Amino acid sequence: MKQEDVVDILKELMRQVEEGKNIDAGVQYRMSTSPYVCPDVASKEWDLLFRNHPQLIGLSGDLPETGSYMAIDDFGTPVLATRDNSGQFRAFLNACRHRAARLTQEDRGRKNVFTCPFHAWAYSNAGELVAIPDEDHFGMVDKSCNGLIELPAVERDGLLWVHPQPDGDLDIDALLGPELAEELASFNLGEIVYAGNKNLTMNLNWKLANDTFGETYHFGKLHKNTLGKIIPGNNLHLEKFGRHHRFVTASRVLPEYKDVPEADWDIHVGAAFVLYYLFPNITLIPGNGTCTMVKMYPDPDNPGRSTSRIMVYLSQAHLDAAEAAKADGTAAEVSADTVYEEGNRLPSVEGTMEVFTSTIEYEDYVMGELQQRSAESGQLKHVIFGRNEPALHHFHSTFSEVLGLSPLERIE
Ligand code: FES
Ligand SMILES: [Fe+2]
Repeated sequence: MKQEDVVDILKELMRQVEEGKNIDAGVQYRMSTSPYVCPDVASKEWDLLFRNHPQLIGLSGDLPETGSYMAIDDFGTPVLATRDNSGQFRAFLNACRHRAARLTQEDRGRKNVFTCPFHAWAYSNAGELVAIPDEDHFGMVDKSCNGLIELPAVERDGLLWVHPQPDGDLDIDALLGPELAEELASFNLGEIVYAGNKNLTMNLNWKLANDTFGETYHFGKLHKNTLGKIIPGNNLHLEKFGRHHRFVTASRVLPEYKDVPEADWDIHVGAAFVLYYLFPNITLIPGNGTCTMVKMYPDPDNPGRSTSRIMVYLSQAHLDAAEAAKADGTAAEVSADTVYEEGNRLPSVEGTMEVFTSTIEYEDYVMGELQQRSAESGQLKHVIFGRNEPALHHFHSTFSEVLGLSPLERIE
């Protein structure tokens, strides 16, 4: 991130904290609850935003070495992502060319050859069909044109992108725009490694899961005994990049930055977090040698159910420090009681997961399940997004526009 942007963001947050004012969009919006429950909207979304839309599947550190692979089946096309023997990131339809069986049982691992469990046709990690058992019984097959079906795949600045359609357009420059692409590149996301993940499948529409990351108004209320203990909330800097946005809120120590020269301001100290929303379903929170990514997916058969995949990435130095602390017994115990105590934790998988469990799973998504039930009752026709919730205006105005739904209604 450019230092001039760091300074602008932190100054604006300082102003809000000093004046006791939150961000002000100058307008409220009313939105129908039907996008959370309507099967027609859900089917449009599945088609336009998932089955036929570029997907960010992970970071380079998910495929740390040649032969690494990942199997993903979240958006209608089963994908086998590999790093081939030349180091190139590739993606294939995870389906054998014989009779369509899936090639891997595990979600991730390392393999040079994928042998189909059904009749043992074998493929290289570059997708070539390399062996057919009992070929004299089966009959001749031209191996050169029966490799795995390849999908467009791009690795850029540490981000792994796939298009679910073999002839899909995967233009990352057009997708992100130059400004956001450059800013994301500045976090060196290619240098951190996959450290762990957790999946939450719950009874809420995927957009309600997404809404969790759309305002800081609730931090001191819903999260008063968890995240609200370390992040004050009620302040926000929001910048839109087309369909995406950046969302930053103040850390508790931000006011102390007044006496520090602006050239030394560090966004990871002055801000509690820097969060990028990448349309349509990704929350990316890059830190200092860390990154958390939340990928949210609808259940294609039920608008009232979704899965959030929380992925944690850490630098090797953080992983080594966490291991060393465990080995010498100095690692702090990680629990809902300790994880919100100031300075009590090295970046670790356990610490991140504890925050996501106690704050997101047990608080935000519990609200989301209740919101879903109310919307499903059909009795609550609208919700209201306040002047202090402009990221929610942005999410839902964008969805309405892309899906051809009625626009949100301005309340003057
Ligand atoms: S389906 Fe894969 S070898 Fe037959
Ligand atoms: Fe929350």
